[in-house]
Amino acid sequence: MAVVTIAEVANHEGQEIRLRGWLYNLRESGKLLFPQFRDGTGVLQGVVSQKENPEAFQALTGLTQESSVEVTGVVRADARAPGGYELQVTGVAAVQKIPEGDPYPIQLKEHGVDFLLENRHLWIRTPRQAAILRVRDEAIFAAREFMHQQGYVLTDAPVFTPSACEGTTNLFEVDYLDDRKAYLTQSGQLYVEATAAALGKVYCFGPAFRAERSKTRRHLTEFWMLEPEAAYAGMEDMIALAEGLITYMVQSAIARCPQQLAVLGRDVARLETVRPPFPRLSYDDAIELLHRQGNATAWGEDFGGDEETILSSQHDRPVIVHRFPTAIKAFYMQPDPQRPELALGFDILAPEGYGEIVGGGERISSYDLLRERLRQHDLPEEPFRWYLDLRRYGSVPHAGFGLGIERTIAWITGAEHIRETIPFPRTIYRLWP
Ligand code: 4AD
Ligand code: MG
Repeated sequence: MAVVTIAEVANHEGQEIRLRGWLYNLRESGKLLFPQFRDGTGVLQGVVSQKENPEAFQALTGLTQESSVEVTGVVRADARAPGGYELQVTGVAAVQKIPEGDPYPIQLKEHGVDFLLENRHLWIRTPRQAAILRVRDEAIFAAREFMHQQGYVLTDAPVFTPSACEGTTNLFEVDYLDDRKAYLTQSGQLYVEATAAALGKVYCFGPAFRAERSKTRRHLTEFWMLEPEAAYAGMEDMIALAEGLITYMVQSAIARCPQQLAVLGRDVARLETVRPPFPRLSYDDAIELLHRQGNATAWGEDFGGDEETILSSQHDRPVIVHRFPTAIKAFYMQPDPQRPELALGFDILAPEGYGEIVGGGERISSYDLLRERLRQHDLPEEPFRWYLDLRRYGSVPHAGFGLGIERTIAWITGAEHIRETIPFPRTIYRLWP
């Protein structure tokens, strides 16, 4: 008898199959039992009648939620069953029965989010959480597929670094060997700038760390970022690449994860409109728009969550904000030759209040200007010696961006908080499990 996953049952209608999974729920109705099984690919309802199958009925009676089971049964199409199929159970063997005195902690009722996070190692089994993690997998797979198709080479960056990339306020310092200090990377950007000079078009994909004290639904201390970088490229090239990448991730998730998005109750119509070109606003225009909406952010100030929400809620697709004041941006940003007080940098804000999902732009390629900026930002030159070398030996205009995976997945899945979009979230208060 074939071992079949729940995702595959539609191909086995009328056949007797074997499932390996867990008991998700058990409903009793007189001499009938309605178990729900899950196996990681989905949930399938079964039916067992005491009269027709006393042995299976006996094995299931009193079986506790989340006990592991091997089940045999015949697949029947049934329009009333969730998913359209039902299993007429023929046999049940418990692999591990959870004792009644020590029940599975997460019951099929509402729990507080703190309790769920404390039990994240179990919470990920629930259909909603499992669905988000599957969308994450598909979206990441699509992102890598897209980058590969565009001719970008994956060159991963180190996690231990000698210097800051995104300012020194949120650096994680660690004890390295032989009394040296290292920092957990905030971004792989500086390293992909080096590999771009070696390979042309590159990207890195890995975790980034920021000692964020923010408790917003948009911040983790450990998150994943995909960072393309290209030699002989400018801001416009990167905006076009980011539009293509985001569109491909969103449309692939819609095409490949219809069941998961349905489990999540995601309004897919709000994602289907995501196609390039995305609407654009200069920072100047964004400030004006904020003022018209009653927000008092002054020219020269950075945007926070509130401002991002106002700017993005005007549109049904992501919004590009470009040319921020140089003074509020990172040290490596290339100034606009027309207006040097502005940087050739851009952010992309997701719709529905999910905030900034992409930040990027053109990098300074002049050796002298970069040294000056390091000084202005109070950054020591020595740890950046190798980075300055890139401007000494065959410097070229180049640009890139970083796309935050969790914020992007939160938007695609409609998750309330980005902590649901990573298997084991790390936040200011949470280092467990
Ligand atoms: O805008 P950021 O800070 O840009 C950089 O790190 C650049 N060095 C990237 C580059 O040009 N190669 O971060 C990029 C993205 C943000 O838009 C956001 O999506 C995500 O990373 N991000 C976070 N996601 C979750 N939690 C945090 N604390 C985040 N900080 C940034
Ligand atoms: Mg940013």
